Amino acid sequence: MYNLNDITYPLISWYKTNKRDLPWRKRFDHIDTPYKILVSEFMLQQTTVNAVIDHYNRFIKIWPNLIDFSEATEDQVLEIWSGLGYYSRGTNLLKTSKIIRKDFAGKIPCNIDTLKTFPGIGDYISSAVVSIAYNMPSRAVDTNIQRVITRYFSIEYQSSSKNKKDVQLIIEDLTLKDSPREIIQGLMDLGSLICKPREPFCEKCPINLGCLANKNKSFDYSQPKQKKKVPKRYGYVFLIRRSEGSYLITKRSSKGLLANTYQFPTNEWADEVCLESLIKLSDKNISSYNEIANINHQFSHFKLELKVININGDNIEFLDKSITSKARWIPPEEFNKMGFSSLMKKIFPYLEY
Ligand code: ADE
Repeated sequence: MYNLNDITYPLISWYKTNKRDLPWRKRFDHIDTPYKILVSEFMLQQTTVNAVIDHYNRFIKIWPNLIDFSEATEDQVLEIWSGLGYYSRGTNLLKTSKIIRKDFAGKIPCNIDTLKTFPGIGDYISSAVVSIAYNMPSRAVDTNIQRVITRYFSIEYQSSSKNKKDVQLIIEDLTLKDSPREIIQGLMDLGSLICKPREPFCEKCPINLGCLANKNKSFDYSQPKQKKKVPKRYGYVFLIRRSEGSYLITKRSSKGLLANTYQFPTNEWADEVCLESLIKLSDKNISSYNEIANINHQFSHFKLELKVININGDNIEFLDKSITSKARWIPPEEFNKMGFSSLMKKIFPYLEY
């Protein structure tokens, strides 16, 4: 059995002087702190701290508290979320905030099971909010914490989910005593700054004395991942402009990739696409059959190549009607206020004003 104090005392003391200066960590004694932690944890899921900071600051400037945010529209949220990816996180955060306002008088519950009933909240976010916002014990385990604890105890690694469960039990133990807020954030910072995946700086680690990985000089705790070949998909995107200057814009479905974001009309992306099945190539309105640009984009699970086609929108007809269903004509001056994804923003330089 291990002595909890061998970890918590040096960790908390190290955290106090070495913690990262992050905008959601400014104050923990304010009524809006839980809301700010909730926003930060939604943004930080699958996204690095560096990529989140600017988005977080902009978000909090517009909506400094949950009541203000709960009155936002989905399009406003998507606009601020643009560039962060995984857009359903933004719409789920809005749904969650509306529920908390209506059913919990605007106060974020300090209860893991209740939090998990809200859209977009699972094991990790519920635990992180309870420990970081409310300083209560939890099982908050992100990838940094998982690596630090697995190394410290040299936990046998069978699978990521089994390993996570083992680490969660230890974290629950560690946070039952002392300050859960500092322990959780301290382990996150230790993983990010010292106990790095490839080359850990063990000589600088506050808990190196009891660490079995350091003792055995054995840091590879997981099976090396097989490098998967990332599939590639192709598509066309149509810049359909009327002579008065507006463009035809559609909104993506509320389910799936880039849900609810705005876009220039595009077909369903696939392994192969055939332009002839989408538009009448003989149509005089297609001002340039040669695509005007080629856009590449990397999603987590596939690569996308989009060919951009210019079309005169004064009298256009598509063979594939789904491409322009529920489309609206919108002048480009309004695009910056709408929730376009960063993929679609790559097309903005090709617009005519
Ligand atoms: N990654 C996920 N949550 C985090 C947090 N609260 N601080 C730093 N990195 C994180």
